[in-house]
Amino acid sequence: MNTALCPDFTLEAVYESMVALPVFPKIVHKAMSVLDDSQKNISDVAKIIKLDNGLVANILKLTNSAMFGLSQQVSDLETALALLGQNRIREVLIASAAMPYLSRDLHGYEMSPQDLCYHSIGCAMISEVVSHRLEFPHSSELFTAAILHDIGKIVLDIYVGPRLMEVLDRSRRQESDFATAEWEVIGTDHAVAGSSILQQWEFPRDICRAVRAHHDPDLYIQNRLSAMLAFCNIIAVQLGIGVGADSFRYRLSDQLLYVLDCSQKDYYDCLEESVRALDEAKDVIRLIFG
Ligand SMILES: [Fe+2]
Ligand SMILES: [Fe+2]
Repeated sequence: MNTALCPDFTLEAVYESMVALPVFPKIVHKAMSVLDDSQKNISDVAKIIKLDNGLVANILKLTNSAMFGLSQQVSDLETALALLGQNRIREVLIASAAMPYLSRDLHGYEMSPQDLCYHSIGCAMISEVVSHRLEFPHSSELFTAAILHDIGKIVLDIYVGPRLMEVLDRSRRQESDFATAEWEVIGTDHAVAGSSILQQWEFPRDICRAVRAHHDPDLYIQNRLSAMLAFCNIIAVQLGIGVGADSFRYRLSDQLLYVLDCSQKDYYDCLEESVRALDEAKDVIRLIFG
């Protein structure tokens, strides 16, 4: 690996940056386990969430956005949770807790604080379209993986920045995707970094694996959750949702469609239905950034 242009770079430094990240709120995992406990109810979940005021505020913001499509505006947590239902509570919890991490300026990837947030929310909303169209039974896991799939960028940003032109140049010359060029220039890529962060935050193994695989065909063909995530990301990129320096360096492969048993018609239907998700994702971004 040539690190001559970036003398401060070492893989150890990247991993130290990951360890230095604020820990994902443990309250979220705790609330999830209470949700799974048949002896507990919504008010038990609410009691836990209320320990974190910032989380409550974000949950109410997202619950009242087009993302969750409730027919009425809600101002208190218990009502929000009752109206959302179990699967939606998981989704709103993850999305609300992830927002502070995703709302960052990523100069290295040429993304504003809105871009990564918009891309992640957009990808999660696309995941609902795709889960429905391709009859994927694990839509909640896919939603979580979609929200967090590019989280590795928040750590790699400072390392990619000084080498961005080199990464893009290599990607163009070799006609490889951005993550491959990122790996070749930096020595790791944002999918690997993201998976390590999620492991550190104690996310389930399937979700870490899907995030690790989202740009790697050799990996995503082995597992349907991973392939579904790769597909959602490609649609988000093709629709230009949260465009950064890497966004147009990824392409849809026939192999991915084959693995998903997705016809060209299914693909175009997903694309068309996802366009609607775009406006809903914009509504969320407006609520978050004002
Ligand atoms: Fe990515
Ligand atoms: Fe992405």
